[in-house]
Amino acid sequence: MLSVKVPLKDAQKEKKNLIAKNLLDKNYSLKKEKDFVYFPVKEKYKTSYKFEEKELKEKEVKATSIKELLKNKLSKEELKNLKRSMDTIGNIGIIEIPLELEEKKFFIAKEALKFSPQVKTILKKGKHEGVFRTQELEFLEGEKNKIATYKENNIILILDVEKVYFSPRLSNERKRVNKLIKKGEDVLVMFSGCGPYTCNISKNTEAKSITGVEINPEGHKYAEINKQKNKLNNISNYNGDAKEILPKLEKNFDRIIMPLPKSAADFLNVAISKAKKGCIFHFYDFRIEGEEQKSVDDIKEACEKAKRESKVLDIVKCCQSGPKEYRICVDFLIE
Ligand SMILES: C[S@@+](CC[C@H](N)C(=O)[O-])C[C@H]1O[C@@H](n2cnc3c(N)ncnc32)[C@H](O)[C@@H]1O
Repeated sequence: MLSVKVPLKDAQKEKKNLIAKNLLDKNYSLKKEKDFVYFPVKEKYKTSYKFEEKELKEKEVKATSIKELLKNKLSKEELKNLKRSMDTIGNIGIIEIPLELEEKKFFIAKEALKFSPQVKTILKKGKHEGVFRTQELEFLEGEKNKIATYKENNIILILDVEKVYFSPRLSNERKRVNKLIKKGEDVLVMFSGCGPYTCNISKNTEAKSITGVEINPEGHKYAEINKQKNKLNNISNYNGDAKEILPKLEKNFDRIIMPLPKSAADFLNVAISKAKKGCIFHFYDFRIEGEEQKSVDDIKEACEKAKRESKVLDIVKCCQSGPKEYRICVDFLIE
C-alpha cells in the first residue's frame, strides 16, 4: 500500500492537508511506528515527506443494510428481490425472504446474523393474521429462541415474537404520543398487546392511570410481565374483548388510544362511550396516501351516531405499510 511517512509532530497537520486534497485512502488504516505516522495515500503528490510501500490494515466497512451485506454474494437479480432491512426486536432479527430466494434462505440468514452483534437469532417473516395479528416465524439461524428482550424510550419489553404482535417501527410514534400526555390523565389503551403503549406512558409521562385491554392471553401475559419488569404501578391490564371489557370499566377516560389499524373503526362506538368531555383519541388506520379523509369520515359518522361533536387535531403518517399505503394516526378530540 502506498503511504507517506510523516514525523509524529507533523501528523495532524498533514492529515488535514491529505483530507483537503482528497489524497487520503480511507479504505486503509494509518500506522504509527516509533516517531512516524504512515498515512495511506491514493497517489504520490508534491511533498518533502518520503513515500513508502507499507503493509496497512484494510478497514472493515460496516454494511448499513442486509442488501449491502450480501452485495457480492448474491446476483444483481437476486438482490433486487431482497428487502434492504430486517426488523430487529432486541436479540431477534426477522427477515423477509421473497419466494424467488426461498432456496437461499439459510445462507441469507447466516449472513444476516453478522449484521449486528446484538442479534442472536434470525427468523423468517410471516404474514400478520387473525384476531391476534400474530405471524408464524420460521427459525433460520442462530440461537433457537423466540423470546425477545427489547428496549425503547426508557422501557424494556419481553415478548414471544411469534405469539404476540409487536412492531419496533412504531417506537417513534409511541414517543410522539408520550409527549402529548398531560399530568393527571386517565388513559385507555385498547388493543394493548404486550404493553408497549401502557409501559411507555407509565414510564415517560405524568398520567394518573393507564388501562390496557388485550384479547390475546399471551399478549396479556407479557403485558403483566412487562409492567413488573419496568416496576410500573399505575397500569391495570385486562384480558378480553374490548367490546365486552369496556362497558364493565368503572371510569371514563381523558385519552383513548386505538392501535388496531385493520378494524379500529368497528370499535369507535364502544370507545366513544368511555370518553370524558374533551377526551383525545389516537385512532390508527391503514390508508392509501391521499385517502386519509375516509378515516375522518368514519370518525365523524361514529361521533354523530353517539351525538358527540368531534374535531380532528392532527393526521400523522406513522410508517409505510405497503406500496403507497401508510399506517396513519388521526388525533381527534371529542366534546
Ligand atoms: C396491531 S396489534 C397492536 C398491539 C400493541 N398495541 C402494539 O402496538 O404492539 C393489535 C392488538 O389488538 C388485539 N385485539 C384484536 N382484537 C381485539 C379486541 N376485540 N379486543 C382487545 N384486543 C384486541 C390483538 O390481539 C393485538 O394484540
